[in-house]
Amino acid sequence: MNNIRKVDPISPDPETIREAAAVILRGGTVAFPTETVYGVGANALDDEACRQIFRVKGRQQDNPIIVHISDFEQLDYITQGLKESLRLILERVWPGPLSIILDRKNIGIVPTAGLKTVAVRMPAHKVPLELIRASGKPIAAPSANKSGSPSPVYASEVYDDLNSRVDMILDGGPAYFGVESTVIMPREEEIVILRPGAFSAEEIRDIFKMKVVVSGESSQAPISPGMKYRHYAPEKELKLGRTEEKIIEACEKGNVLFIGSSETASKLNTESIVLGSKRDLYEIARNLFPSFRKLDKSKYSVGVIESFEERGIGLAIMNRIRKATSGKEL
Ligand code: TXA
Ligand code: MG
Repeated sequence: MNNIRKVDPISPDPETIREAAAVILRGGTVAFPTETVYGVGANALDDEACRQIFRVKGRQQDNPIIVHISDFEQLDYITQGLKESLRLILERVWPGPLSIILDRKNIGIVPTAGLKTVAVRMPAHKVPLELIRASGKPIAAPSANKSGSPSPVYASEVYDDLNSRVDMILDGGPAYFGVESTVIMPREEEIVILRPGAFSAEEIRDIFKMKVVVSGESSQAPISPGMKYRHYAPEKELKLGRTEEKIIEACEKGNVLFIGSSETASKLNTESIVLGSKRDLYEIARNLFPSFRKLDKSKYSVGVIESFEERGIGLAIMNRIRKATSGKEL
């Protein structure tokens, strides 16, 4: 565990950041917290360094990586054709958990998986922002999990998945939202959400003042390459409990671990993993991925999870639950 370094998420020690930046500049990989989940990053302008990210995670080569920036100069360096109206919006929403697909420039084919576009975001977290500034490079970073596993919310989960395959892990405590950024593709008349995330569809509609469609809901909407892979899933079987009655029945039969709200858990006589109150979907989001890892470590062979209201961050919660249960219902 000697690749783990503690760092204050609010005011990161400059010396630690300098050391991490040196790792980035020599082509290494650094895992760090963001406001969404932990990422594992490398110099986005160095194809060989980015190749290392794919190796470390066991990630499919055709799945492009989000590039993290700390200022708009970097945005202009790696993208082209950005409309002034869109730039003004990005100046309002960034830093924040919104990734946007733009036409690429001056950036290699490894992080972008050979596409003509690049996904960019400016994270709202001091550690990556300071790391990008100290290295002077945009940083390509997918979530810091083993490919297919739930994204990490804690540095210890990064270590469980990637161990010493990553050169340095900056432990800044838990990531804030617990689900990844929202990935959007702006089009002439509409904004397509390729992956629902921490930035809500309602907020996007208000800020962009355009129609918002969620990919997969209409046949023409493009799909993000990453969304076709098995994702976010525990290794144990996880089923979606459609009704409270079915959840109670399944848990009473035994050997099933309930994952869900405190409200539903209080109606069961069996063990459960409480995600939080139904009234606070942010709390549910923060505890969701860690609960999948807890299920895997538990004595239970099957988990049953309840569904949540698809408003705000609830859209991302249900998207991840559907992927994790892959159609298995009670
Ligand atoms: O919150 C997050 O977004 C985290 C933190 C570390 O920033 N990162 C993250 O990255 O979740 P990753 O690689 O696990 O997910 C990126 C998603 C994938 O579904 C990928 O296919 C999609 O973004 N993506 C990346 N570049 C794209 C592009 N040019 N066109 C379409 N989709 C793209
Ligand atoms: Mg990921």
